[in-house]
Amino acid sequence: MRISSRLPASLSPTAFSKLVEARRGSPGFLNLTVSNPTRCGFNYFEDSWRKALDSPGILAYAADPQGSRAAREAIAAHHGHGLPPEDILLTASTSEAYSWLFKLLCDPGDEVLVPSPSYPLFEHLAAMEGLRPIQVPAYFHERWHLDLDALESACTPRTRALVVVNPNNPTGQFLSKQEWRALSNLCAERGLSLLVDEVFADFVLEPQGDALATALLDESPPCPVFVLSGLSKVALLPQLKLGWILLHGSARVYLDSLVFIADQYLSVSASAQAAAPSILGSAKAMRDQVLLRARDNLRCLDDLLLAHSHLSRLPVEGGWSVLLRRPALGDDGDCALRLVEETSTLVHPGHFFDLPTDGFLVLSLLTPPDIFREGISRILPRLPVD
Ligand SMILES: Cc1ncc(COP(=O)(O)O)c(C=O)c1O
Repeated sequence: MRISSRLPASLSPTAFSKLVEARRGSPGFLNLTVSNPTRCGFNYFEDSWRKALDSPGILAYAADPQGSRAAREAIAAHHGHGLPPEDILLTASTSEAYSWLFKLLCDPGDEVLVPSPSYPLFEHLAAMEGLRPIQVPAYFHERWHLDLDALESACTPRTRALVVVNPNNPTGQFLSKQEWRALSNLCAERGLSLLVDEVFADFVLEPQGDALATALLDESPPCPVFVLSGLSKVALLPQLKLGWILLHGSARVYLDSLVFIADQYLSVSASAQAAAPSILGSAKAMRDQVLLRARDNLRCLDDLLLAHSHLSRLPVEGGWSVLLRRPALGDDGDCALRLVEETSTLVHPGHFFDLPTDGFLVLSLLTPPDIFREGISRILPRLPVD
């Protein structure tokens, strides 16, 4: 069998995923990593979602590669900042948005800078477009800092774009306004586009004073800025398959080319587009449930951490995850494996998200509170001082 080098050399499951598969479903197994919101016991107001999806005009297909005007108007209203619906293009997911932007901006062999730690899918999405994702590790000193010198040194004549997640997944940190200025100026100097993934921007938990809430706050960014989001997080509906790209600042000149790409696929379903205005209208009630739960889980974690002074957690400015800090005694992967074996509780090692050092475990704040409390109570005593 011959397959493209765009795919990973091996698709075999790791020892970690084999163990998790073997244990999943066994009595007493607790999963503290679930990020699929439809599996976390939230109240989905099913009747109103069903009504939104039951759209009368759906049999008369009117293809619009940019996406229906009504859906784009609702998305513009959701983001605010005077964003015109003309500057929005619909996709079937944020992942698809990345693929289209990579096709738009890059030729095969070009490079995309990705500060890490971050969402691990970028590596594959870029590789599947024939690109080289270049990871540039952030460093941890009280908080995560983008290494701006390293980002600048990583630029080559083949670099085309820089991708950031704001707030970041899983570190939960927003970009500071100072980092934003430095990043956007670097992109302007080097002729790069800036892709800003804001899927978690509405989930603000413990914000710091200088956080950049959204790239749209910069009214005239010095480089092309593409902001990405979607219903997967905004309305807790990953199964609806609706994402979008906001073309901000000088990125507007790319609209016709992006519409050309979208026209080859026409991938956004008519029902998702028709339902979007009504779903976005009531999505805040869904997000509020997440915020309430995340705050409860953080409080519970803080209570339980009081008895373990060698352990701590990082502040969560925004998003759905929290980083638990432990003395970096050995590999986080081995630690997570041991926790599954000894406590039947699943957490993710930081290196799943390319954290540059050991000493971090990642927990989902979507976890139902009783499972979260029980799981944390099981694992904390198993994280030794030395
Ligand atoms: C930072 C980030 N971007 C994008 C996505 C994927 O979103 P979508 O379901 O719209 O592809 C995720 C999913 O977890 C994510 O964490």
